[in-house]
Amino acid sequence: MAIPASLQKGLKLPVISSPMFLVSGTDLVVEACNNGVIGTFPSLNQRTTEGYRDWLIEIKSRLKPDAAAFGVNHIVHNTNDRLMADLAVTIEHEVPLVITSLGAVADVVKAVQSYGGKVFHDIATVRHAQKAAEAGVDGLILVAGGAGGHAGIINPFALVNEVRRFFDGTIILAGALSTGQDVAAALMMGADFAYMGTRFINTTEAQADAAYQAMIIDSGATDIVHTPAVSGIPANFMVKSLIDNGIDPKSLPSHKLDMGEEAKAWKTIWSAGHGVGSIHDVLPTAKLIERLTDEFSQACLDFDTKRR
Ligand SMILES: Cc1cc2nc3c(=O)[nH]c(=O)nc-3n(C[C@H](O)[C@H](O)[C@H](O)COP(=O)(O)O)c2cc1C
Repeated sequence: MAIPASLQKGLKLPVISSPMFLVSGTDLVVEACNNGVIGTFPSLNQRTTEGYRDWLIEIKSRLKPDAAAFGVNHIVHNTNDRLMADLAVTIEHEVPLVITSLGAVADVVKAVQSYGGKVFHDIATVRHAQKAAEAGVDGLILVAGGAGGHAGIINPFALVNEVRRFFDGTIILAGALSTGQDVAAALMMGADFAYMGTRFINTTEAQADAAYQAMIIDSGATDIVHTPAVSGIPANFMVKSLIDNGIDPKSLPSHKLDMGEEAKAWKTIWSAGHGVGSIHDVLPTAKLIERLTDEFSQACLDFDTKRR
């Protein structure tokens, strides 16, 4: 199985601009979709369920008739006390793509599929991929080593190959994908979609500080540290932003530091993936997608030439 028909509508490049806590808002989603890639956001980026509903209404009103589909991310975990209320709004508005994190629950999957929505679930281990497949998800997002946010540590080749052995749904690859060549490589490895987060932080529509974007431009892969210290679950952060917040990256604990509310921590300690070394600018989302598309086409041509 490749890309479900409902998600092929308006799609010009097999890319999902991935959901990012605090960073993805309506402007980024609308620009992504109107320029032919799937735009997504976490429902928790709005403080209330009513606010989340307002965002859905706004996004739908700003999408062009030929726009790509959009999606929303729900954290399926008992720490998310808004899950059921947010999910009801998702169903009411028939959001085309639902991205679930942490828990893959068959009832949630069925509820979304009942109105024709698709569910992609993100995983960082093969065991979690198996559980999500059993819950009936349409796609698996393989969060490989080097990804921004809560990331895994498994090599992407190993992860794709192991998951393909038992899963014939849509495969979405995540982790340090920054260029159109990277998108082509992901497809060549057997993925159906490339899932890109960090690259979209450096767009004019992202809700990110200029200093955050500048730090991404100044960083390389070795300036990223994988640690549970900020959110309890291992995630990738820029070393410089840990230092700027008085945290010594050389003596990080193996547990969550007491930093108060999680949102506050993510606002000042900036997450990014290993792909930072390929990001040298901040540009409008439309221009970024145009560049990714050109690079993707060139990579395909170059590959054909190499094969001869
Ligand atoms: C700042 C930041 C916040 C993120 N927040 C979320 C989130 O709320 N929900 C989610 O499913 N993934 C979240 N992610 C993970 C991304 O959706 C995606 O898996 C990751 O960015 C892909 O790797 P890349 O950044 O190397 O492209 C976040 C990533 C970053 C960088």
